[in-house]
Amino acid sequence: MKFHIHTYGCQMNVRDSEAVEALLIAEGHEKASNEEEAQLVIVNSCTVRQKAEDKALGKAGNLIADGKITGVMGCAVKRLGADIFRRLPALHFAVGPRMFSRIPDIVERITSVPAAVMPRRILEVGENEIPKGLGAHPSAVCTGTFSDVHSFVTVMIGCDNRCSYCIVPDVRGHEWCRPFDEIVSEVKSLAERGVKEVCLLGQSVLRYNDSGKTFPDLLRALQEIDGLLRIRFTSAHPSGCTDELLSAYRDCPKVCRHLHLPVQSGSNRILSEMGRRYTREEYLKAVAKMRAFDPQFAVTTDVIVGYPGESEEDFEMTRSLMDEALFDNSFIFKYSPRPGTKSSLMEDDVSKEEKERRNQVLLSDQERRGIELNSRLINSVRRVLVEGPSKRKSERWSGRDSGNRIVVFEPCEGISVGSEVDVKILEAHAQVLVGEIV
Ligand code: 5AD
Ligand code: SF4
Repeated sequence: MKFHIHTYGCQMNVRDSEAVEALLIAEGHEKASNEEEAQLVIVNSCTVRQKAEDKALGKAGNLIADGKITGVMGCAVKRLGADIFRRLPALHFAVGPRMFSRIPDIVERITSVPAAVMPRRILEVGENEIPKGLGAHPSAVCTGTFSDVHSFVTVMIGCDNRCSYCIVPDVRGHEWCRPFDEIVSEVKSLAERGVKEVCLLGQSVLRYNDSGKTFPDLLRALQEIDGLLRIRFTSAHPSGCTDELLSAYRDCPKVCRHLHLPVQSGSNRILSEMGRRYTREEYLKAVAKMRAFDPQFAVTTDVIVGYPGESEEDFEMTRSLMDEALFDNSFIFKYSPRPGTKSSLMEDDVSKEEKERRNQVLLSDQERRGIELNSRLINSVRRVLVEGPSKRKSERWSGRDSGNRIVVFEPCEGISVGSEVDVKILEAHAQVLVGEIV
């Protein structure tokens, strides 16, 4: 059967979709070249904000109307449980985020009977089971050439942090670390298949611990893998920016000089209400520590605007923190109350218009900061891992530096995808650096 997976949400979802793709291919199904061609379409859903959930369920509704065999997987399924069938009565199946390995069996059940009697509304939500299939990669089951430069690798699932606004612990369940040796052998086999860069995924990867083996231990083990050029990871928490982590950076040149360090707010009052377990000052200290180690260390962040009770003064604290931290990039989100979370009991009292205004202010601050920071890199030489032709101008190629900055360059003759080149930076934009190979 030809299938297509439509993914919403974060990198965890991207990774889970890839795993499902691999599991379906292993059972003899075929990846369709586009959605129209597919008979089976799976929507991998997100529920971190209401808008994300609505988009995913709206998409599934359209697919059902188009006559596709339709399934929904991921976070929204766990939040809604059987209620998902109230919204989508003709949905064929719904599978929670820790249960995706059940999908091939469910597809078999559905497709082994004539269309007229096909079962619908099959539900497998799950609770805290250890997911199966976390290590399934399409590159392992595809025959012929497979040329992905980059691959995600799940190292932890779930989250025990319980930040007041966040639904992730409810939908992704308790924190669990994958066995150390399993991760190392997975990355080894990806490198053998030509993958040059891995990104290790978890809600809070610096907390990784498998019987005493820590995240820095994992970085050191992956550093030794032949053929692998770069190691990234996401997300981090300032409490993990320890001397032990810095010493792993020092010993492991493959580990990219970039941290995604969600700050959420710059106001100590709001941070405390959010249950983030750091102050503004502690956060800035962690950033300063990384930049003292390497002045070009890139730090990116997530921020929520319009958290209940966020005053103009709180918001200005966020603005000033963002300038002090000199974020290379930031992702701004408008607060959305999620049922069952602590903050959903508080009044969502910042108006829609005010959230939008704060969002726009932070976006334009980031644009200015991005240009300013990137301008400092003009005339420097950045080592770039080549990803392929640039999206805008195909005569230029693009790749990323260690700080995850997008670098577009010329000339491209004789350059191959997955190689590393040195690029002298000539132009700086907020999100892109432009240069030439030296
Ligand atoms: N409303 C808005 N943004 C949220 N995030 C998490 N929960 C919410 C919410 N209820 C944001 C945080 C997180 C990112 C993935 O999504 O900034 O880091
Ligand atoms: Fe990712 Fe959170 Fe959305 Fe789930 S709810 S897909 S963990 S962002």
